Amino acid sequence: MGFERWFNRTLNRLWGFIEDRTGMPKWALRPQPEFTFKPSYWTGAFVVNAFLYQVVSGLLLLLYYQPSTNPTYTACGQAVGQLSTAPAAWCSTFYIVNSVPMGSLLLSTHLYGAYAMIFLAFVHFFRGYYLGVYKAPREFSWMVGTLLLLATLGMGFTGYVLPYTQIAYNATNVGLVLALRLPTFGPLLGPFILADGTSQGLLSRMFAAHVVLIPLALGALLYAHIALFESHGIAPPATSDPLQRRRFTEKEDEKAVPFMPTIFFYITKWALAYIGLLIGIAALWPWNLPTYVGNVAVTPGVTEPDWYFLWLFKVVDFYGVTPVIAVGLTTVIILYVLFLPFLDRSKRTHPRDRPIVLFLGNSLMGFFILTTVWGGLTPGQQILPPEVAERIVPIFALNAAVVGLFYWRYQKSYRARLAAAGKTPTLPGAYPTPATATPSASASEVSHG
Ligand code: HEM
Repeated sequence: MGFERWFNRTLNRLWGFIEDRTGMPKWALRPQPEFTFKPSYWTGAFVVNAFLYQVVSGLLLLLYYQPSTNPTYTACGQAVGQLSTAPAAWCSTFYIVNSVPMGSLLLSTHLYGAYAMIFLAFVHFFRGYYLGVYKAPREFSWMVGTLLLLATLGMGFTGYVLPYTQIAYNATNVGLVLALRLPTFGPLLGPFILADGTSQGLLSRMFAAHVVLIPLALGALLYAHIALFESHGIAPPATSDPLQRRRFTEKEDEKAVPFMPTIFFYITKWALAYIGLLIGIAALWPWNLPTYVGNVAVTPGVTEPDWYFLWLFKVVDFYGVTPVIAVGLTTVIILYVLFLPFLDRSKRTHPRDRPIVLFLGNSLMGFFILTTVWGGLTPGQQILPPEVAERIVPIFALNAAVVGLFYWRYQKSYRARLAAAGKTPTLPGAYPTPATATPSASASEVSHG
């Protein structure tokens, strides 16, 4: 007992000393409501964790990696013997995997960490999409987030070609053909990405973008994203109550916990679990380096991007879909996501109150999953219109039917509860408007049943 008291007192004094000398409470983020101690409220923080792991592992890889297509890298020549004619970029990657202590683990965790970061960014995005966190006052947080998602995908795109494998090189060229068809930006990007038109020029530009330009942009955007988060606080739970913002802010401060150390350590715990899982997976299933660009001894395989771009490659495989159409479709999706806060203006955040947004979100997700799996199973295989219609139409039709039925059912039960509470619907949507409802007799009383 005596020891326990002494231990806790010492720990408190030590923490107090650190707080005092670093001024930590001043630069810590704002306190957050107690109910946010759930992983779903910190999906963005998990993406930050993943990003930080990528920065650290990427810096270590930089110690060995050679961004050159020149086949004269001696360390690699010694390591791979007969393969010493392979380009230095590939050779140095081979050297990392086979000769650097724990190099294979390092490279595999960097690669799987990239997959995880992209996946987590999509989870964070879809969570915000369904729970309406993009609504006022978080419109700019959402728009900056969209740019962050694009930058994250840009990191994946530019990193894929760095080991200089044939499969990545081919896929990067297909990707570039698409990117250069972007309206307005494509022709501007062209000379910047392609440099002098040589393979070395392309590799150098991809390398510069991957290790300096995009990380800088990502860092700056992340700073803006977190500053906006700091100014608005965490988004309240989704609800049908249009007055929720005011109600939430009043209640929010009653039970708040400090960011430092409580929330910080909560997130750190998840970060450690994440790194442990990543290392475990990489140790069990290390990445195998495919063959290098220009290896005539190996028959060329199919051109395939990493999983997060498979959907786009499959869309290009659809008969009649030109790169311009594929890029046009991507641009429309990006613009829809970017401007969503201004397209969906209702004040209610619960998905049941936003059937059109729900339908579009489900359809997008269904479309991505279908085309990704399809792309993985039949890469480069052309698909005729009847088959495209046969697979895609059911996703949209089923989704429309399910969302429509749920909405109809919800409206009916909502009207019944309003009638039971002696209220008459003031809108075709059957809710009292913010102007007619008072905080004490608002829709929230009947909407959560
Ligand atoms: C590299 C990608 C991203 C990172 C590192 C990131 C990071 C974060 C962090 C740390 C937060 C604070 C709350 C939390 O942890 O969830 C946050 C909140 C938020 N993010 Fe992101 N984010 C990213 C991408 C996105 C995307 C793609 C969107 C949407 C298009 C988005 C929209 C938002 C919004 C609206 C909030 C406020 C939500 C709330 O208060 O619950 N973010 N983000």
